Amino acid sequence: MKALVYRGPGDIGVQEVPDARIEDPNDIVVRVTSTNICGSDLHMYEGRTSFEEGRVLGHENLGEVVETGPGVSKVKVGDYVVLPFNIGCGFCKQCERGLTNYCLTMQPEPALAGAAYGFADMGPYEGGQAEFLRVPHGDFNALLLGEDAEERQDDYVMLADIFPTGYHATEMAGVGPGDQTLVYGAGPVGLMAAYSAILKGAGRVWVADHQSDRLALAERIGAIPIDTRESDPAEVVKEATLGLGADNGCECVGYQAHDPQGNENAALTLDGLVDAVRFTGRLGVVGIFLPQDPGGSRAQGDLEAEGRIPFDYGLMWFKGQSMGTGQAPVKRYNRALRDLIAAGRAEPGFLVSHDLPLEQGPEAYRHFDARDEGWTKVVLHPDGQLAGAAA
Ligand SMILES: NC(=O)c1ccc[n+]([C@@H]2O[C@H](COP(=O)([O-])OP(=O)(O)OC[C@H]3O[C@@H](n4cnc5c(N)ncnc54)[C@H](O)[C@@H]3O)[C@@H](O)[C@H]2O)c1
Ligand SMILES: [Zn+2]
Ligand SMILES: [Zn+2]
Repeated sequence: MKALVYRGPGDIGVQEVPDARIEDPNDIVVRVTSTNICGSDLHMYEGRTSFEEGRVLGHENLGEVVETGPGVSKVKVGDYVVLPFNIGCGFCKQCERGLTNYCLTMQPEPALAGAAYGFADMGPYEGGQAEFLRVPHGDFNALLLGEDAEERQDDYVMLADIFPTGYHATEMAGVGPGDQTLVYGAGPVGLMAAYSAILKGAGRVWVADHQSDRLALAERIGAIPIDTRESDPAEVVKEATLGLGADNGCECVGYQAHDPQGNENAALTLDGLVDAVRFTGRLGVVGIFLPQDPGGSRAQGDLEAEGRIPFDYGLMWFKGQSMGTGQAPVKRYNRALRDLIAAGRAEPGFLVSHDLPLEQGPEAYRHFDARDEGWTKVVLHPDGQLAGAAA
């Protein structure tokens, strides 16, 4: 089958790889019809993770079930399903508590937890930027979609990661009705966090970034854009709240945060949130931070390369703030968010800028990585059918 293979920093190619197949009785095989490029893929694409050359990327996947193992009973051939990027077993100590983001049995390294498709340090599983995908524990992991699945793929595919992840940021931040919330990052995850905060009835939501096209989308969904080329988000928010600060904040950028000129500093967004959020407010950090960054010394210095990020912890402590971190437990939210989409109450596909065949993956990676104007979210369609895509 054809797949997008990581060949080294900045180098992704369309290659023939062995077909995805049933390897365990509980597996299913999905014919991938929609698979997104994510900001997380870009950390790997840029060589800023331990992702191995020769592996297939793609953790935001939707498609049609084409084969089920003998242990699978709920999911049927022909069903359209969306797969949480986390692979869970359903029966380990973490999965039992709903923490499928840190499953113990799907992660082969005993000292680690958590597994995902085509992801650094999250097990050997291949990604879905390919014609077919092997899904372990198909009954547990696949979320069934309704009759409108094929036509509304650009909405439903966001359930694989960024819609639940943005929602999770607002959950960790404790966003509730009437709240004033600051989101750092107007990438797909930041936009989904802002969208979730608005769905929850937040009073005012600011979104900070230096990309005009992404800020325009934030404004379109009812958030207040802050262009960091022009103003400091913390000052804007404090000014608007009698100096008190926002009720809570979401970090949706991660360790490659940079100033508008491109100089990286992993503490930028954390410092901004600690400053902008009120005493005792909560921060939800879903932007990725890692214990090792192979390019960190060059980009930011030796401390950052070891994941040691000097940020304003003293002020955070002084203000009595708390912080939630980590990969999102997609399964905790995807069913409810699916039903919001099905009911027409949520349309997360609004952020899709490009629906492309798999063959244009390498080009799409280049543009999305450069944050080129107008490349806000790419959905690849390995089946070549772009018809179900958003207009
Ligand atoms: N926790 C999870 O489960 C999870 C899931 C998906 C993605 N992520 C992570 O979330 C982060 C965002 O993902 P994405 O797909 O939106 O990525 P993205 O790279 O497309 O978007 C990041 C945005 O942040 C902006 N930015 C950079 N520095 C900034 C700064 N100092 N202030 C304000 N904005 C700044 C960029 O201009 C860009 O628009 C990534 O680190 C990704 O790996 C985490
Ligand atoms: Zn993702
Ligand atoms: Zn588990």
